[in-house]
Amino acid sequence: MMKQILVTGGTGYIGSHTVVELQNKGYEVVIVDDLSNSEKDVVDRIEKISGIRPIFEELDLVDAAGTDKMFQKYSNLEAVIHFAAFKAVGESVQEPLRYYQNNLVSLINLLNCMRKYKVQNMVFSSSCTVYGQPESLPVTENAPVQPAESPYGNTKQICEEILRDSVKAYPEIKAIALRYFNPVGAHKSALIGELPKGVPQNLVPFITQTAIGLRDQLSVFGSDYNTVDGSAVRDYIHVVDLAQAHIIAAERLLEGRNEENYEFFNLGTGTGSSVLQVINAFEEANGLPVKYKIVDRREGDVEQIWADTTIANEVLGWKANRGLDDMMSSAWAWEKNLREGDC
Ligand code: NAD
Ligand code: WQD
Repeated sequence: MMKQILVTGGTGYIGSHTVVELQNKGYEVVIVDDLSNSEKDVVDRIEKISGIRPIFEELDLVDAAGTDKMFQKYSNLEAVIHFAAFKAVGESVQEPLRYYQNNLVSLINLLNCMRKYKVQNMVFSSSCTVYGQPESLPVTENAPVQPAESPYGNTKQICEEILRDSVKAYPEIKAIALRYFNPVGAHKSALIGELPKGVPQNLVPFITQTAIGLRDQLSVFGSDYNTVDGSAVRDYIHVVDLAQAHIIAAERLLEGRNEENYEFFNLGTGTGSSVLQVINAFEEANGLPVKYKIVDRREGDVEQIWADTTIANEVLGWKANRGLDDMMSSAWAWEKNLREGDC
């Protein structure tokens, strides 16, 4: 029988790419999503790519009774890949309780059900935001977690603590937290990708929306950072590379290859790129200009961060292999298909 995996937030940006990779590897996927930040037709798009329709359940994981019922219904689940969360940093400052409620309670409900229904394995979406501005770069998993800049960032730190405490108290449960750096790009089919609501807060969607004419120009936040060209530096990682790491992490748990019941890994490329370098890469990859102006720094931004990926490379046996050009051309193909295509 095919191994069944629950993907929460599976119609979202990273979740949808992970569902495709799971299907490519022969897993049966159950998606749970409340569609608070994604569209139902992503299920059709996934089917178009893989030829397989994933099971879809519309459910808010904050609903404990509903979550319990769902676990009762799908009795063959072997692992949970938990993407579902609210993720807008600025919004989390305005509405902290909504963020704490959604991101913490959904994890707690899942863990309670995993214990009750004997589903042992969880892969959790964490973030490099837990490091704040690290003292030395590239940042390793051993760097200290710093006080969070936002309620959103704090939910990631608290969720990691909930996982750490839970596997200690309930050793039948095993978890891997994956600390993503900056996921960008889209599937090569251009059928799935990032779908920001309203004005994008993140760099690459703002670039693609500017290039297609939805925004007048991009604001580059800060030109006086102590970096290669004065703009801030991040480790951008292709969403398909990121998605593939989830399958490797889930299989590590399924096959009992984990060394501890709670492990955490950096997922980045190991290379930092400045905002101006990203703009340049977009222009080069797609042969079109992006209008931008330099403005003040954005509050709360770190100056520079990129990942030390040694542990993920050696222990997980995973390495990102798609470059900035692929990230930029796939992001552009997705934007064009979204606005001009028939999807
Ligand atoms: P996304 O918003 O595209 O996907 C999240 C999905 O979860 C959405 O489809 C949303 O509808 C769903 N969801 C939210 N709350 C839910 C709930 N209570 N019940 C059921 N479904 C719910 O976001 P994404 O970019 O794919 O991010 C996935 C995960 O990765 C999140 O946990 C996010 O915090 C984390 N992460 C994202 C980034 C990034 O830059 N995109 C970086 C680091 C970590
Ligand atoms: C990247 C760089 C901006 C927009 C955020 C969250 C983090 C994580 C990923 C989930 C920065 C600059 C951006 C623009 C710009 N999410 N920029 N003009 O800030 O690294 O991280 O998303 O866990 O928690 O904080 O990503 O894409 O917003 O910004 O100049 O219009 O681009 O200042 O240097 P960030 P980002």
